[in-house]
Amino acid sequence: MKAIVWTKYGPPDVLQLKEVEKPSPKNNEVLIRVYATTVNRTDCGFLRAKPFIVRFFSGLIKPRRTSLGNEFAGKIEAVGKDVTSFKVGDKVFGYNDDDLGAHAEYMTTAEEGSLTTMPANMSYEEAAPSTEGAHYALSFIRKANIQSGQSILINGATGAIGSAALQLVKYFGADVTAVCNTKNVALVKSLGADEVIDYTKEDFTKNGQTYNTVFDAVGKSSFRRCKVLLKPGGVYMSSEPGFFAQNLFLAMWTSIFGSKKVIFPIPKSRKEDVLFFKELIEAGKYKPVIDRRYPLEQVAEATRYVETGQKTGNVVITVEHNNK
Ligand SMILES: NC(=O)c1ccc[n+]([C@@H]2O[C@H](COP(=O)([O-])OP(=O)(O)OC[C@H]3O[C@@H](n4cnc5c(N)ncnc54)[C@H](OP(=O)(O)O)[C@@H]3O)[C@@H](O)[C@H]2O)c1
Repeated sequence: MKAIVWTKYGPPDVLQLKEVEKPSPKNNEVLIRVYATTVNRTDCGFLRAKPFIVRFFSGLIKPRRTSLGNEFAGKIEAVGKDVTSFKVGDKVFGYNDDDLGAHAEYMTTAEEGSLTTMPANMSYEEAAPSTEGAHYALSFIRKANIQSGQSILINGATGAIGSAALQLVKYFGADVTAVCNTKNVALVKSLGADEVIDYTKEDFTKNGQTYNTVFDAVGKSSFRRCKVLLKPGGVYMSSEPGFFAQNLFLAMWTSIFGSKKVIFPIPKSRKEDVLFFKELIEAGKYKPVIDRRYPLEQVAEATRYVETGQKTGNVVITVEHNNK
């Protein structure tokens, strides 16, 4: 099969299209014929092993996995002998940010992992980017206990995490102020933003409003700058650990002292989340934002684009199979 092979840490040039052996599923695994996948910031982190801590999970000297790619949509081609919840021919979607391997024509993943059958109303290309950014967003939303009637400011509401967070927060009934670039004002309004701040024209930390939660989905701010935006008892969250990993320490410190808190959840992969996203997609409450599409052969180029930190939503990789 064709795969984008990854044998060392480094820039996107290390990613090479090669012919490799098709994997076979273990007893508890399914073999998926991949039709669509993504390049996201998790892939970029693994690719360059940045931050360094990535090496403790991914291999100290060189990567243990052979291909990147953590989101997928495709068709079950074979099942291990213990698999009961999927059968050959099922269309599935999900993510696996532990084992990766979706930048290939075929991949294996455990039956009990974060995958389920495809939403009825979606193509492979739309389903593939529906899970990983949304799962980060959901873990922040749950940890902050965001509820109907509350107010939240989302900085970077146009990223993979931010655009999912905006839709999920609206689903939970909170009021959203979204911060984005001029070119994306209409987009964030269409995703449900109640108020929009264009960061090229206004500093969101100086708008005089206060919120129950400030979620910096692109990690460009700090608790120190955003504290003034929080109501008493308010919560600050960021998708990045911040300068000197300050958000991790602030999460511990502010959980004991002061009424305004930093929270920094460590997201866990859960099948229930993918089931929840499928339910929302089918109900028309959530749809991933797609920026560009590239063929599998151009994963390195797609990665260069994702590394700019300026994609809008998600970058999809389409996987063509010669024998359809
Ligand atoms: N799987 C994941 O996605 C993942 C996993 C773990 C951690 N993270 C971290 O989470 C963060 C977000 O990832 P992502 O994939 O959601 O983001 P992303 O898709 O890379 O998006 C970045 C978005 O943020 C906007 N942006 C850039 N600079 C901004 C600024 N100063 N203020 C407001 N918006 C700004 C960009 O739009 P404009 O250029 O148009 O402004 C772009 O749409 C990254 O720091 C990443 O390292 C991501």
